[in-house]
Amino acid sequence: MISKRSIERVIETAKVEEVISNFVNLKRRGVNLIGLCPFHDEKTPSFTVSPAKNIYKCFGCGKGGNAVNFVMEHEGYSYIEAIKFLAQMYHIELEEIEMTGEQKEAEAKRDSLFIINEWAKKRFSNNLFNTQQGVNIGLAYFKERGFRESIIKKFDLGFASADSKDLFNAAKREGYNIDFLKELGLVSEREMDFFRNRVMFTIHNLTGKAIGFAGRIMGNNPKLPKYINSPESDIYNKRKILYGLYFAKNEIRKQEHCILVEGYTDVLSLVQSGIENVVASSGTSLTTDQIRLIKRYTNTIKILYDGDAAGINAALRGMDMILAENMVVKLVILPEKHDPDSYIKEVGPAEFINYIAENEKDFILFKTNLLLEEASSDPVKKAYILKDIVGTLSKVPDPLIRAMYVKECSNLLDVDEKILNSEINKIIKKEIRERNQRKIRNEKVDSSMEVVDKQDKLIADTQTFLKQSDEYQEKEVIRVLMEKGHAFYDETQGLLIVDFILMEVLDLLDYFDNPIYKKIIKFVKDIRDRGAVPDRNDYFNAEEDIREKYFELIMTPYEYADWQRKGMELQTQKHPDKNQFNEANQAIWRLKYKKLNKLIKYNQENIIKNSDNSEQYNTLIKLHMKLLNERKNLANLLNIVIQ
Ligand code: GTP
Ligand code: MN
Repeated sequence: MISKRSIERVIETAKVEEVISNFVNLKRRGVNLIGLCPFHDEKTPSFTVSPAKNIYKCFGCGKGGNAVNFVMEHEGYSYIEAIKFLAQMYHIELEEIEMTGEQKEAEAKRDSLFIINEWAKKRFSNNLFNTQQGVNIGLAYFKERGFRESIIKKFDLGFASADSKDLFNAAKREGYNIDFLKELGLVSEREMDFFRNRVMFTIHNLTGKAIGFAGRIMGNNPKLPKYINSPESDIYNKRKILYGLYFAKNEIRKQEHCILVEGYTDVLSLVQSGIENVVASSGTSLTTDQIRLIKRYTNTIKILYDGDAAGINAALRGMDMILAENMVVKLVILPEKHDPDSYIKEVGPAEFINYIAENEKDFILFKTNLLLEEASSDPVKKAYILKDIVGTLSKVPDPLIRAMYVKECSNLLDVDEKILNSEINKIIKKEIRERNQRKIRNEKVDSSMEVVDKQDKLIADTQTFLKQSDEYQEKEVIRVLMEKGHAFYDETQGLLIVDFILMEVLDLLDYFDNPIYKKIIKFVKDIRDRGAVPDRNDYFNAEEDIREKYFELIMTPYEYADWQRKGMELQTQKHPDKNQFNEANQAIWRLKYKKLNKLIKYNQENIIKNSDNSEQYNTLIKLHMKLLNERKNLANLLNIVIQ
């Protein structure tokens, strides 16, 4: 750890005009210096540096601060990284103060993980350019897709050998800690390479270090997942990373917007064509953390998604979240059957940029139009749309921005602004009320504990608990079933997610609270029993209630967040082999956990009722122990502490 004293010394020593002249051409004007702002695009300088005050301020975009802020902003450094950068520039020796043993160990481990990833990255790159296999298969693949050597090198693309021990043996030979390779997901528990015979994409953090990898099969093989990814580790948190951001950040600032695409290859293609303000969410749904990362550089996101229904749905999905961050969201839907990579290759960069300019739509208006189109003249559906749009509008925290949208939506929907506003206010008020009630309820439960007689309380609790619907847990299982059913749960055994979920859930079917979910399970099972794998079309063509549920579920994955916060945190992914089934496992475990809790309460109540009947009592106690044990196992899987 760097001592406070030396941090202060760096801040005192760093002269803002000297630091900034490393990056910006400054000219004297009066007591100040001015230049073209590096944080936004401008032709006349409004970026002002005051040596007297030791600060900078841009009168164009409003950015300002001291030397440390500048380096953080310009280079995307963390605070400590900026301090280190300045210390180096001014030759100030940073005084380290003793870390605790634990801190040291964690630090040393992180360092090792970075070193190993850096090594692996170089090896993948060397494979690609300097081995026969790599050149003939990997490099040939990239070249065939039109990627030039400069982009391949810039983004640290590589090749993982088909030899299942290539990386493992090299690591062993060169003395790297195999446990760390396992933790990084580079080799499996059985000491085989995780990435085999795949072209490799390096995932960089904001300072350009390799924190993980994605590997793509070459060509198409429906039996293999197209991409596999490093698992999360001490240095890789998927929710906080956007592919390409390290290379894009300066350009995002200059262009004053960020282009968001879905795939690695989309990023590469666009950057290669000179469109550099682009990042990818890489197949996962967008997280709030990712949105905030973008927000460090710009307030505007343009989402470029495929022109098919899945693309549109994926785009709509992240939206309410982005709005909640007060950002401006534009949507560009590409022509059907195209992703950004294929489209820019077909029409070239100039036409591509034109297409974006002509087709970008503001999100809320896009959504309103889309829903209107779907409903055409059905008044019942129109009411439903109104509800949906009002929900979205209520997510916009800034009242001014919200008012602007209300105006436009009121025109589009042909509904009075006042009505929209009053509906929005109802939702906002309801949310506030619920938040307060939750708080009060928690306090009440605490204070009434000792007062109420224990047995009565248990029975009362049991009854309310049993009456509570397990909507969330059931819904999440069904969401994974419908959305991910076709993916592999276990590739080596050919087991699909749909098979796994059906297997787990059929026993629980009697305990399901919501008939619609039961119905969906039976619907899926029928299709599967015929040997088919249910897909989107099956749901599109299903009975109305199933179809509607399908749309609802694939469009609203975020309402589970609140419930996750109540102590059922997402388990960190530990090993690549488990990556793909994590979601399914989590959903099933949570459902089982919830049902098991109900059984336990129910059984406890029975025990009390049967305290006079010793035979029955013993059986129930045994059952109780068994249930508790099962719950403990599940809790371990879910990382929940049972009070
Ligand atoms: P190319 O087909 O090589 O152009 O890749 P793409 O990026 O166009 O792929 P696609 O549009 O099918 O998927 C978009 C993104 O989703 C990819 O870049 C990956 O990040 C992710 N993805 C796609 N398929 C898989 C998969 O099988 N497993 C995982 N984990 N991620 C995938
Ligand atoms: Mn593609």
